[in-house]
This record gives sequence, structure tokens and C-alpha cells, in this order.
Amino acid sequence: MGRLDDKVCLITGAARGQGEAEARLFRAEGATVWLTDVLDAEGEAVAADIGGTYRHLDVREEAAWQALVDEMMSAHGRIDALVNNAGIFATGRHFEIDPAEFQRVMDVNCLGVFLGMRAVSPVMREAGAGSIVNISSLAGLRGGVGAFAYHTSKWAVRGMTKAAAVENGRRNVRVNSIHPGLIDTEMMRALPGAEDEMRLARRVPLGRPAQAEEVAELALYLASDESSYSTGSEFIVDGGLNAL
Ligand SMILES: NC(=O)c1ccc[n+]([C@@H]2O[C@H](COP(=O)([O-])OP(=O)(O)OC[C@H]3O[C@@H](n4cnc5c(N)ncnc54)[C@H](O)[C@@H]3O)[C@@H](O)[C@H]2O)c1
Repeated sequence: MGRLDDKVCLITGAARGQGEAEARLFRAEGATVWLTDVLDAEGEAVAADIGGTYRHLDVREEAAWQALVDEMMSAHGRIDALVNNAGIFATGRHFEIDPAEFQRVMDVNCLGVFLGMRAVSPVMREAGAGSIVNISSLAGLRGGVGAFAYHTSKWAVRGMTKAAAVENGRRNVRVNSIHPGLIDTEMMRALPGAEDEMRLARRVPLGRPAQAEEVAELALYLASDESSYSTGSEFIVDGGLNAL
């Protein structure tokens, strides 16, 4: 028996990295998985490999969200879990980042998560069950130098999670945030100083970055009924970085 048997799950940014790992694990645990991204060739390939369904979805586009939810409801009559995983990183301190660049990060990381919750919450509320998992970051729990827009957007994800959790609680729709630390994906490899992975990981108490699959295990728990009494909460997967 799979831990997500009979569940219909939607994952954004699922063409690679953590989203791909979540799609693979959810499918292996019995879920019907819909993968979305803007990297269509990669997303199609992952979906074909695991027996999922891929659709192009730019998370910034409200109409596209509604069309996708309508299509999923026609196909399955339900959406049990949404993982709002798509995100981008950008450098720049608050006194140097261009407002247009700030807005670009907020549009994907913040507006995109809001639109996702806004699109699926009505069908989950109607069903009286659902789990929304928002991927924030350790950057959504603390400050830091040189990624001002990213920090801002990830704190916003954490805040939206709590507000939506309270608004959805009586309808048994749970909303939680995941806060990854250093995860070995394309995003981490593009970080300043990433050429020297061990230097980057030096401060991590466990002494290494995580594999995407290690975040996927937490997303699986939150998407499943195993986490039935958790909502409005932060779940950290960072090798101990937050404890420093
Ligand atoms: N890698 C890390 O160290 C780390 C740490 C903390 C949090 N995170 C967060 O984890 C999530 C997943 O990132 P990852 O590490 O797998 O990186 P990644 O860059 O490999 O994956 C991000 C995915 O999001 C997709 N995406 C970007 N813009 C999009 C848009 N407008 N619409 C739809 N999809 C879009 C990308 O195409 C990509 O497939 C992100 O929200 C990221 O901020 C990553």
C-alpha cells in the first residue's frame, strides 16, 4: 500500500530539482501526479518516465491556474494536494537591487504561490479535505546578505501559509510551509561560490547539502494523511543550519 494511494496531487516546478523528486516519490507512493513547469521538454520527459501528466503552467498566470484546476476536476473530480514548489533565486542587496528584478522574484515566488492556493482552495474546501504544501526556504525564517528579494518572497510564503491555514482550517484544508536549507539542485549550483560545494556546505552541521529526495520525503508526509493534525506550521529540512 502506498502512502498516497487514491490521492490526486499537483506539483509546480516539477521538471527538475525538488519538484521532480517530489513527483517521482508521490507517484511511487501511489498518487496520481500532475506535473507543471515552464520547462516543457524536461517536464514531459519526467511525466512520461513516471506515468504522470505534464502541463505547461507559468505560476504567475491566473487564467492558466484556473484552466488547469478545471481540467483536473474534469478528469478526477478532486485535487487532494498541491505542492507550490516553483521558485527562482536572485542576488542583490536592498540598496542595489533593481525594482523590476525585485518584482520578478515576487511574481514567481509570492504571487505564484498565492494564485496556486487561490485556485485549489475552493475545490478542497468544497471536498472538506486537502493539503497545500508551500516551499519557502531557510531564507523565510531569517535575514541574510545579498538576496533581498528572495528573502522577502520566502518570508511572504511563510506568512501566506499561516493566513491561509487559519482561513481554511474549519474546512479541513491544511496549509504548511517547508523550509529547505542547502539543497543540491540547479538553483544551488547557481549560487555565488557554488563551484566549491564543500566550502558552501562548511557551515551546515551535517556537513553536506541535501539531496532533493530528502526534501521530497517531508513534502510526502505533509501531502499525506499522516500529517492530519498539522497546519499553519513551518517544517525545516536544513541539516541543522537553523540551529547555528
Ligand atoms: N536549492 C536550494 O538550495 C533551495 C533552498 C531553499 C529553498 N529552495 C526552494 O525550493 C524550490 C525548488 O527549487 P529547486 O532547488 O528544485 O531549484 P530548480 O531551479 O532546480 O527548480 C525550480 C523549478 O521551478 C521552475 N520555475 C521557475 N519559474 C517558474 C514559473 N514562473 N512558473 C513555473 N515554474 C517555474 C523552474 O523551471 C524549475 O523547474 C524553490 O521554491 C526554491 O526557492 C531551494
